[in-house]
Amino acid sequence: MADQRVQALLDFLKASPTAFHAVFEAERTLAAAGFEHLTEGERWALQPGGRYCVSRNGSALIAFVMPGKAIRGFQLIASHTDSPTFKIKENAEVSVRGHYVQLDTEGYGGGIYASWFDRPLSVAGRVLARTAEGLRTRLLCLDRDCCVIPNVAIHMNREVNKGYAYQAQIDLPPLWGTGEAAGSFRRMIAEAAGVEEKDIAASDLYLYNRTPGTVWGVEDAFVSAGRLDDLECVFTSVAALAEAAEASAQTGHVSVCALFDNEEVGSTSRQGARSTLLRDVLLRIREAAGLDEQDWQAALSTSLMLSADNAHAVHPNHPEYADPVNCVWMNEGVVIKHNANQKYTTDALSAAAFREVCRQAGVQTQDFFNRSDMPGGSTLGNLSSAQLSVPAVDIGLAQLAMHSAWETAGARDVDSMIRAMRAFYAADIHIGDGLLTVTGGQA
Ligand code: CO
Repeated sequence: MADQRVQALLDFLKASPTAFHAVFEAERTLAAAGFEHLTEGERWALQPGGRYCVSRNGSALIAFVMPGKAIRGFQLIASHTDSPTFKIKENAEVSVRGHYVQLDTEGYGGGIYASWFDRPLSVAGRVLARTAEGLRTRLLCLDRDCCVIPNVAIHMNREVNKGYAYQAQIDLPPLWGTGEAAGSFRRMIAEAAGVEEKDIAASDLYLYNRTPGTVWGVEDAFVSAGRLDDLECVFTSVAALAEAAEASAQTGHVSVCALFDNEEVGSTSRQGARSTLLRDVLLRIREAAGLDEQDWQAALSTSLMLSADNAHAVHPNHPEYADPVNCVWMNEGVVIKHNANQKYTTDALSAAAFREVCRQAGVQTQDFFNRSDMPGGSTLGNLSSAQLSVPAVDIGLAQLAMHSAWETAGARDVDSMIRAMRAFYAADIHIGDGLLTVTGGQA
C-alpha cells in the first residue's frame, strides 16, 4: 500500500505542473469519490451527509463533507497549491542578436535558482481564449522538454563554485530556440490549448521542471521531485478526505480540505490563506445548517485546523542548522511544528489533539523547532487565523532542499500522513477551555 501511495503521489505531481493543474487534479479525485462541484456564483443547496467542492480562480479549492447530524464544529486541513517558479511575461520572446530566442520571465516565490539550471524545463498554465460562448479558461501544458537555463562555462566564471549572485533579468531567462523560433511561443501555446493564436486574450504561464519524480535509495527510502512543498500535503489531504468521507458523515463536524494558492508570495491574493475564501465557504455552510451567531461562534471555538506544509529535515551535510533535539528526520513520522513567536499556530492544546489522533491511528509524530538563532519561514495557519478564529496546529512532512526545483522527502511518510489525516477527519475532536476529547478516528 505504501508503495502505491508514493506512486500515486508521483502521478499527481506529474499531472500538476501549476496550481491550476493541481486544483484540476484534486477536483477529479474528489469527483470520483462522489463530491459535487459548486460554484461561488450560484446559490448552494447543501444536504446533510453531502460532499462538495468549490474552487476560486481555478487555483484554490475548498472541499467539505457535511455531517449527517447537527454541526458541532469544523475539522479542517489547509495546504497550498503553489511552488516557487518563474512566470512567463505577456510578451514572452526576447531575441539574442537574432540568433537565439529566449523567454522573458519573472521569479515567483523564493526559489533556489541554481537548481533550475541545466535541466529540461517546460511551460504550463492557463489561457483565456475567445470561443463562441465567450472567453473561456483553457489549461495547457506543453509536456515536452522545451527550454533550458544554461550555466555559464566555468572557463568564463572561475569563481562560480564560491557562490554567485544571480541577476534575474540577465542570468535566468531560459533558451527557447534558435533565431528561426521567432514567433513560435504563442503559436505553441495556442496549439497546446486547442485554440487559435488570435483568440488568446490573456495568459498565466509558468516554467516547470519536467523531470518526473523518482523513488530512490536503499530500500526505496526517498522520493524526489519538483513541487513536494506543498503538493505532498495537497495530495495527502485530498486523498484522506476522499477516503474518510463516509466515516466523516457519521460525525458531528464538517470535514474541510482547503487548498490555498499564493502561499509562496505572502497569501494576500483573493485565493490565498489571508483572503476570506475559507470564511466565505464556512458562512454558507453555517446558513445551510441554520446555525445562529451563538451556534457559529461555539462551533468555531471547538474546531481544529491542521495547517499542513512541509518541514525541514536535518540536512546530512549540515546537521548544525537544526535544533539539537527538536529536529526532524525523513521517514520518522508526521512533523508537529512549534514556534514561541507564533509563526506556527501550535500550542499545547492543539498539539495534544493532533498527537492523540496520531496515537489512536498508530502514526508516529516528531517535533520541530527552528534553531533559536534562525527565524525560519511562516506558513498558512497563522494567516488564516486572522480571518477565522479556530484552534490550529502546524504540521508537515520532513523534507530536504525546500524550494529547490528538485526536493527530497521520505517515501514512507506519504502513507503515514494519509493515515493521520484520515483519522483526523473520522475522529470527533472537541476542544474546550483547557479541555480536550478525541473520539473515533477509524476511517
Ligand atoms: Co510550503
